[in-house]
Amino acid sequence: MAYTIAITGKGGTGKTTIAGLIVTGLVENGRAPVLAVDADPNSCLDGLLGVTVRSTVGSVREEARERSSSGALAGMARTEWLDLRIAESLVEADGFDLIAMGRPEGPGCYCYANNVLRDVLARLAVNYPYTVIDNEAGLENLSRRIVQSVDLLVLTGDHSKRGLETVRRLYGLAGEMKISYKKLAIIINRLRNDAAPPDFGALRAAVPADHFLALPEDSDIAGHAERGAAMGTLPRSNPVAAMMDGFIDVVLK
Ligand SMILES: Nc1ncnc2c1ncn2[C@@H]1O[C@H](COP(=O)(O)OP(=O)(O)OP(=O)(O)O)[C@@H](O)[C@H]1O
Ligand SMILES: [Mg+2]
Repeated sequence: MAYTIAITGKGGTGKTTIAGLIVTGLVENGRAPVLAVDADPNSCLDGLLGVTVRSTVGSVREEARERSSSGALAGMARTEWLDLRIAESLVEADGFDLIAMGRPEGPGCYCYANNVLRDVLARLAVNYPYTVIDNEAGLENLSRRIVQSVDLLVLTGDHSKRGLETVRRLYGLAGEMKISYKKLAIIINRLRNDAAPPDFGALRAAVPADHFLALPEDSDIAGHAERGAAMGTLPRSNPVAAMMDGFIDVVLK
């Protein structure tokens, strides 16, 4: 069964960057193959990982909906068709594969297709020791329960008062929404060199996370993003990459 890491948190605090660092770190450290899941319709995890997504689970689901309503797809044929199309949506790369979820289901829920897709993803994930899911900000995605179990939930935030409050609020919401996970990590990202370290004391009292990590602002990561360079080209000696690798080692111990 794949070890599943889901990353979410406040908007713009480095979720996709952290997901990319985890995927490339797992691959670099001999933990391949990794299944990377881009669960943010506005994300660019593919670009960050240096690959290109052509079709998404959402677009396959919409096509299935259209074919079913026109009577072109029924019973077993529908399941097989979905399996095939999802397999085609998988982007294969060196050490990892990527699947993008695309747009979530809109009004007029077509729950059958969603259930089938959940099963397809579960079947897909068994082929990988690790699954890493980059989510959009907030918890909507995880509440749809497209993945059955999350081993490590990573909540990202920034160091501002509001940033830390958002992390506390998301933790509370995850409880209210009954989002289940085995371990929780809080990552406060983009700490400026001159900034005081985050007050994990107050956060620790409010959020009983298993792991706390603060990552510095890093000019190479910012430069990589500006150039649109793939995360795989960032040396693992980069301070943030090295901290993420150390963190993943501790988590997986
Ligand atoms: N430690 C860091 N040092 C410097 N820049 C960083 C760092 N972490 C992230 N960034 C930059 O911050 C920007 C936002 O990061 P990213 O896209 O990963 O955030 P996100 O949480 O996924 O955003 P969204 O909520 O839009 O999905 C990017 O330009 C990224 O390169
Ligand atoms: Mg993102």
